[in-house]
Amino acid sequence: MTDKRCVVVSGAESGIGAACAIAFGAQGDNVVVLFHDDRNDGSDTVAKVKAAGGDGIAVQCNVGDEASVEAAFAAAEKAYGLATVLVNSAGINMAGVTVRQMTMPQWQRMLDTDLTGAFLTSRRFVRDRPAGNPGSIVHISSIHAYAVRAGGADYCAAKGGLTNLIETLAIEEAPNGIRVNAIEPGMILTPMNERASTDAAYRQSLEKNIPMDRAGKPEEVGDLAVFLASDKASYITGAKIVIDGGLSLMQALGA
Ligand SMILES: NC(=O)c1ccc[n+]([C@@H]2O[C@H](COP(=O)([O-])OP(=O)(O)OC[C@H]3O[C@@H](n4cnc5c(N)ncnc54)[C@H](O)[C@@H]3O)[C@@H](O)[C@H]2O)c1
Repeated sequence: MTDKRCVVVSGAESGIGAACAIAFGAQGDNVVVLFHDDRNDGSDTVAKVKAAGGDGIAVQCNVGDEASVEAAFAAAEKAYGLATVLVNSAGINMAGVTVRQMTMPQWQRMLDTDLTGAFLTSRRFVRDRPAGNPGSIVHISSIHAYAVRAGGADYCAAKGGLTNLIETLAIEEAPNGIRVNAIEPGMILTPMNERASTDAAYRQSLEKNIPMDRAGKPEEVGDLAVFLASDKASYITGAKIVIDGGLSLMQALGA
């Protein structure tokens, strides 16, 4: 890969996606900050990418919408040339209701964003790639891809499906020099975990379940994404890397 890569990051106006964008900026990369809607236009992340040493532009993209994904990649590649890294961080939180109570719109919105979004961005990344152009895809999945949680059937199903998408894509694209990996975070302090970010007592009640006794920082996920997309990870594909302070190991306690 060249030194100055075109790195496309979805969900990059907030949380883990923003941290990934800034971490790639610190590598000197050209970062395309995909933002979802006008409530946050990604300009704050772009400014931080530039301050970190990279270049950046913000482009609107609804990852669940095929035309929107196609248009966003066209804008990205017009600005910086062929994308060499895709980080897909766009996602929404679990509905927080049981399957008995879950509505069709709740279920569908989750699958559209966290699973179809991963399909559409990945497909565009690999499909229009001339031969001889290696690349790397990093999806932000979750420990809930395999550790289920009541109230999260929508989220667990989407992230579980994402695992099989990643693994399939990894074997399909390995001969083309495209590596496909997932990061599986535990509890990370972002707007998705708003209550834990603002309510210390609530956060500590959750952190006591984490062997490292603290929630993770988005920057810690960003550093892992940079590693997975780098030549130092040149033999890693189809992997799911857990980053959770040990949380997901705490499964068989008690009865
Ligand atoms: N925060 C955590 O504890 C945690 C843990 C495990 C996994 N994750 C995963 O990390 C990813 C990022 O989450 P976060 O914690 O940074 O939350 P966040 O809410 O800060 O960021 C999510 C981003 O996705 C964007 N988004 C939502 N729907 C979209 C759509 N249809 N198209 C494009 N963008 C869309 C939002 O605008 C937002 O910027 C998600 O996939 C989430 O499932 C988060």
